[in-house]
Amino acid sequence: MAADRRLTAPHRRTTIIYDAEARLWLLSTPSSSYAVRLGPDDAPYNAHWGRPLTIEQARTLPPDREELPAEGGERFGAASLQIRYGDAVRGVEWRHLGHDIHGEPGGGQLAIRMADRHYPLEITLHYRVRPGSEAVERWTRLRNAGTEPITILRCDSAAWTAPPREDYRMTHVVGDWGREFQLRRGPVPEAETVLTSRRGHSGHQVNPWLMIDAGDAAEDHGEVWSTALAWSGSWRMTLGRDQDGRAGWTGGFGHEGLTWRLGPGEELETPVFTGMYAPDGFGGTSRRWHDHIRRHVLPAPDRVRPVIYNSWEATEFDISETQQMELAERAAGVGVELFVMDDAWFGGRTGEHAGLGDWWPNPDRFPNGLTPLIDHVKRLGMRFGIWVEPESVNPDSDLHRAHPEWVLHQPNRARTEMREQLLLDFSRSDVAEWAHGWLDDLLTRNDISFLKWDMNRPFTEAGDDVWIPYIRNVYAVMDRLRADHPDLLIEGCASGGGRADLGMLARTDQIWTSDNTDALQRVAIQHGYTQIYPACTMGAWVTDSPNRISARLSPVRYRFHVAMAGALGIGGDLLTWSEDDLRWAAMLTEQYKRIRPIVHGGRMYRLGDCAVQYTRGPETVVFVWQPTALRRTTSPVLLKALDPDGLYRDEETGALHHGAVLMSHGLPRPLPFDTMSELVRLTRVTHS
Ligand code: DGJ
Repeated sequence: MAADRRLTAPHRRTTIIYDAEARLWLLSTPSSSYAVRLGPDDAPYNAHWGRPLTIEQARTLPPDREELPAEGGERFGAASLQIRYGDAVRGVEWRHLGHDIHGEPGGGQLAIRMADRHYPLEITLHYRVRPGSEAVERWTRLRNAGTEPITILRCDSAAWTAPPREDYRMTHVVGDWGREFQLRRGPVPEAETVLTSRRGHSGHQVNPWLMIDAGDAAEDHGEVWSTALAWSGSWRMTLGRDQDGRAGWTGGFGHEGLTWRLGPGEELETPVFTGMYAPDGFGGTSRRWHDHIRRHVLPAPDRVRPVIYNSWEATEFDISETQQMELAERAAGVGVELFVMDDAWFGGRTGEHAGLGDWWPNPDRFPNGLTPLIDHVKRLGMRFGIWVEPESVNPDSDLHRAHPEWVLHQPNRARTEMREQLLLDFSRSDVAEWAHGWLDDLLTRNDISFLKWDMNRPFTEAGDDVWIPYIRNVYAVMDRLRADHPDLLIEGCASGGGRADLGMLARTDQIWTSDNTDALQRVAIQHGYTQIYPACTMGAWVTDSPNRISARLSPVRYRFHVAMAGALGIGGDLLTWSEDDLRWAAMLTEQYKRIRPIVHGGRMYRLGDCAVQYTRGPETVVFVWQPTALRRTTSPVLLKALDPDGLYRDEETGALHHGAVLMSHGLPRPLPFDTMSELVRLTRVTHS
C-alpha cells in the first residue's frame, strides 16, 4: 500500500530532488512544489511555485524569474543583493559552485552554493522543507572569501515570484499603536510597493508578511502565495510588477540605507523568509501557517497556555503588595492559572519618568522582596509571572547614571527620548550579558514561570552596525533563559503588537496582541492577527467596561467570548467588578478551559469576519460576535469542514444537528442586538 502511494504520488512527500541534467532542484511539500533551476548564465531561477509537480513535469519548465536578483546588468527591479567591492565595482555575476542536500526525517535542507565570477564573494541560497509542513523556508548566507572588505548594501533572505496570471492582488495588515493587524486587500500596483519598518522592531504599522493571489481567491478557494519574515527588527519587502506585469517581491532584514561591512573571512546570514503556497484560499493559507508555526516555529507548542491575570489596566504605575495580593485573590476566584504583575514593581518606577533599568523590587512597595507576593499567589493555586523591559532605561535611573555610554547614541546627536526612555544598545555584548545576568538571577531566586518581555520605543541614533546584532542578542538572551529555565513561558510585547513575527514566535509562547482591549475593536485586530499567527499565541484579555481606551460599554459575556478565541487573560480591575460579573467570569473561564484544546490545537475556519470556528477531531467550537447594531448579522453563520453525514450535539442545549444542515443552513441562532455574542460547542456523535 505504501509503495503504491509512492509510485502514484511521489510528490506527496516532503522531499528535495536534484536533476543534474536539467540543473534543477525540486522541493516538495505534501501539497505544493517549488522548483529552482540554473540558467545558462549560471544564475539561480525559480521555475515553479505552486501545485505539486513530479520531477518529469518540472523538467519541462524553463528557468523563469531570478531567485535572488542582484544589482547589475540588465536588471532594473528591486535588487535582493546589492554589493560593492573594494574597487567600487558593484553587483554579482553568478558562478555555480555546487550544492548540498541534507535529508532530515520527513524533510530536508538544500544549500545551493554560488560565488561571484570575479570577486571573492560566496553566496549560498538555503532552502528547508519540514516534515508535514507546507512551508518552504529560505535564507541567504554571504561569505567574504578574500582579503579585502566588501560592503553589503542589501542582502535579502529571498525573492519570490508568483506564476504568470492576468492580474494580482495583495493582502497584508497595517495599523498603529492600539490598531494593529488591520487587514487590507487590494490590487498589486504597477511600479513598486514597499512594506517596511525602520523602527528597530517589526512594527505596528505593517506586519512582515504578504499574500498574493490572482484576484480570484476567496476564503475557501483559489490559489494564494504567501510569505512571512522571521525577523524582529527593521525590515523591508519590495513588491513589484515587471515589464510583463508579473508580480514578484524581495525581502529581508534592514531598511533602506543601512550598509554592512563584511571583513575577510566574515559571513552574513539572513533571517528565514518562509513561503507558503495554498490551493484553497485565504482560509487554507491561514491553516497552513497555523500548522507550520505550531509544529516548527514555537519553542514549546504543546505547552498549555495558562489563563493569565495581568494587573496593568487595573493599576498602571500605582501598585502595592497588598493591592497585588487582593487582585490575586479575585483572580484565583475566577479560575486564573497564572498571575502576572506588570510594570512598576522595581527601582524607583512610580511613573513613566524613572526607574527603568533598576531591576530590583522597589523597597517601598515590596519591603520584603517578591517572595511574600509570589508565595501568596502560589498558595492561591496560581503560578507567578512578571513584566520586564530589558532593552530600555530611563535617564533617571541608577543604571543610566552608572552607564550613560550603554544607550543607543551617536556623537554630535541628541539622544532622543520617547516615553521618557532611551534604548540600551543591545548590540554590545556587555549590555546583553548584563541583561542576561539580572534576568537569570531574577528567575533563579524567585519562583517565576512567565516573563512578559516588553519593548516600548523604537530605535533612534543607531549606527549601521547596531540593527542586526541588537536583535540577535535579544534572541540570544531569550534563548539562554529558555534553555536554563525550561519551564519558563515568555510573552512578547512591544507596546502591544509591535513585535509580532516569526522570529519572536520562535522564542516566545504568546504575543501581547494590542493595548487596545475594546472587545468590539479587538474582533478586527484578531481577524488580522490570525491570518498568519495561530490562536494559541494571541494574548487576549478581558478588561473593564467601560473600556479604558474606547469608553465603550460591553457585556462581560461578549468581552469573554472575544478573548476566549485566543489565549485568554483577564486584565480588568477585578476589585471593582460586580458579584454578577465575577460569577460570569468564573463560569466563562471554566468553559474556556474545556474548549482551550480545540481553540489552540484545532483548525480555524473563518465564517465571515465576525465568526470563527475551531475544529479538532469530533469537537467544534464556534464564536459569533455581533459587531454593531447598524450591521445586522441575522444572516446564517454557515459552518465548515464538518462531516456532512455526521450528527452533531450542541453541548449547551443537547439539540442534535446534521453536519450537512449546519454547513448549508447554518446555526439556528440569530443575534439581533449590538455586542451580543454566542459560543456554540458541538460534538460529533455519529459519523459516516
Ligand atoms: C506596554 C504594554 O503593551 C502594556 O500592556 C503594559 O505592559 C505597559 N507597556 C507597561 O508599561
